Amino acid sequence: MLIDTYGRVATDLRVSLTDRCNLRCTYCMPEEGLQWLAKPDLLTDDEIVRLIRIAVTRLGVTEVRFTGGEPLLRPGLVGIVERVAALESRPKMSLTTNGIGLGRTAGALKAAGLDRVNVSLDTLRPDVFKTLTRRDRHKDVIAGLEAARDAGLTPVKVNTVLMPGLNEDEAPDLLAWAVEHGYELRFIEQMPLDAQHGWKRDGMITAGDILASLRTRFELTPEGSQERGSAPAERWIVDGGPHRVGVIASVTRPFCSACDRTRLTADGQVRTCLFATEETDLRAALRAEGAESDDENIARIWKLAMWGKKAGSGLDDPSFLQPERPMSAIGG
Ligand code: GTP
Ligand code: 5AD
Ligand code: SF4
Repeated sequence: MLIDTYGRVATDLRVSLTDRCNLRCTYCMPEEGLQWLAKPDLLTDDEIVRLIRIAVTRLGVTEVRFTGGEPLLRPGLVGIVERVAALESRPKMSLTTNGIGLGRTAGALKAAGLDRVNVSLDTLRPDVFKTLTRRDRHKDVIAGLEAARDAGLTPVKVNTVLMPGLNEDEAPDLLAWAVEHGYELRFIEQMPLDAQHGWKRDGMITAGDILASLRTRFELTPEGSQERGSAPAERWIVDGGPHRVGVIASVTRPFCSACDRTRLTADGQVRTCLFATEETDLRAALRAEGAESDDENIARIWKLAMWGKKAGSGLDDPSFLQPERPMSAIGG
């Protein structure tokens, strides 16, 4: 079991498959991209499947989410999903993607055993999409969403970050659109995880702002805390149901006390938190000679790593320091 010193148990593993991305969202990375991880530093497909196997067979992980960067850029993705689906205690499997390329791969991913996807989309306006992501790919994302829904990768969730002066007025339009198309929309508060370190608390749109904007057009009733569990999104029932809308308020309403996550970066480091400033190197153990690379030892190192999990993100501490690794290399 992956238990931390506050008694939280991590059953949800997020695996970043690459730090690369084909978009350049302004709240995430600069136009020129970042210094990407070198190929030999990345875990191989075999190493990834092996770590997931150890997590589900020895450490109590029951859910695996593949993230990036953009995970669809990883050539071996479908094969990895297939091999994880064949594990003895098969975990639930999901993917967080920007949706580009999903139009082509949704069917294969479903056939390989993927259960569901979360797709990022911040705007319904192609011109705003181009400004926000610095790429003219709005159409591809819409096609990806439709393909995911049609392939049965459901519920399809849509993640939206609202940015002042760009898409902040779009919340009600996005919700009307999501309801019409059968997607579950969630708004995410912008977090200080951008590569440029440009986040300002005063500049971000809060859960309170988002709910006020939605309430100009919809009636929202809280779903009730017992249904939230460890999920980061708080949900509201839209106009009496059956549709829901979520808000992931990591900044103004943190949910750290219920956190059930452990993370693996594309270069094989365990992170106990999005905001962790320390990492634990599993790749070195995987690639070591002899008993050091045994399943048992890797499980032991992973368990020990979780002992270092902090109570929370530390966002409200005066001494808060943004982690060195940006969101795109942690996996959201
Ligand atoms: P489901 O609700 O199970 O579909 O997954 P999810 O919401 O955890 O997954 P997704 O990858 O779509 O995450 C959406 C956003 O939630 C991420 O981009 C983060 O902004 C936020 N998030 C996810 N996990 C954490 C976490 O552990 N801590 C914090 N603060 N935010 C998180
Ligand atoms: N704050 C909040 N969400 C972010 N995302 C990327 N960077 C940030 C940030 N700094 C979102 C993406 C995607 C999800 C995985 O994380 O838009 O929906
Ligand atoms: Fe978990 Fe850290 Fe996110 Fe809090 S900020 S929910 S502890 S990963």
